[in-house]
Amino acid sequence: MLEEISFTTKSIHEKTKNFSPQVGIILGSGLGGLVREIKTEFEIPYSDIPHFPQSTVKGHSGKLLFGSIGNKNVMAMQGRFHYYEGYSMKQITFPVRVMKALGVQILVVSNASGGMNPEFEVGEIMIINDHINLFPDNPLIGKNEDTLGPRFPDMSEAYSRRLRSIALNFARENHIRIKEGVYAGLTGPCFETPAEYRYLWRIGADAVGMSTVPEVIVARHSGMEVFGISIITDLGVEGKVFNVSHEEVLEVAAAKEPLVSQIVKEVIIRA
Ligand code: HPA
Repeated sequence: MLEEISFTTKSIHEKTKNFSPQVGIILGSGLGGLVREIKTEFEIPYSDIPHFPQSTVKGHSGKLLFGSIGNKNVMAMQGRFHYYEGYSMKQITFPVRVMKALGVQILVVSNASGGMNPEFEVGEIMIINDHINLFPDNPLIGKNEDTLGPRFPDMSEAYSRRLRSIALNFARENHIRIKEGVYAGLTGPCFETPAEYRYLWRIGADAVGMSTVPEVIVARHSGMEVFGISIITDLGVEGKVFNVSHEEVLEVAAAKEPLVSQIVKEVIIRA
């Protein structure tokens, strides 16, 4: 893996004149609008990046953006990889390894999720304060590369308390309704049954989705600080479980995206 990381990093350095990002951003479903906040200097399609997984979805090829948000150099993944697409955990998280090698210290992840917490409404914005890994897999399984991180990484503060309070303070100052909660990550691609939503709420999760956990595990393994934010696009609350479609998920996410982008931008600037 080390050779692939350094080969890919070298290739990106050549294409970006040694651009050095401090913050890495992974844009989730319907949250692509955040790229508007980036003053972009370089763009590289995934298909031009050695060892990068190639998107299986047509017209969704994905690219890396390099530029700035306020006072910070950032890089963003427009298009992420999901386990349900058939990628391995190592493939899904390879971009995070490359981010680290390029100098990224803070990882920002966004996603759409289903809410189990009965206090949540559709369109709720949730700062992720912890996660439960329900994937039947872990990106760190296999021989540990000690130069990348420890064999048994600590996960007691997977989502930075410091970055969470920046977001909560900004939301309070601007009267933006915001919640905090635990994100359960599982494979999908089915949405959950009512019994599964009930189970997830009982084990302590406030929201559920099909991404984020693998990337955050690798980010923590490599010593990055993490900020995670989720848009609750549908509810898995007892008695309120209705038919969900991917279209509805994207629609709700798109409606809330400007507000989420504003919060993320502020966290990046104040970080
Ligand atoms: N379940 C899983 N993933 C999701 C959901 C959900 O209800 N909504 C958006 N992504």
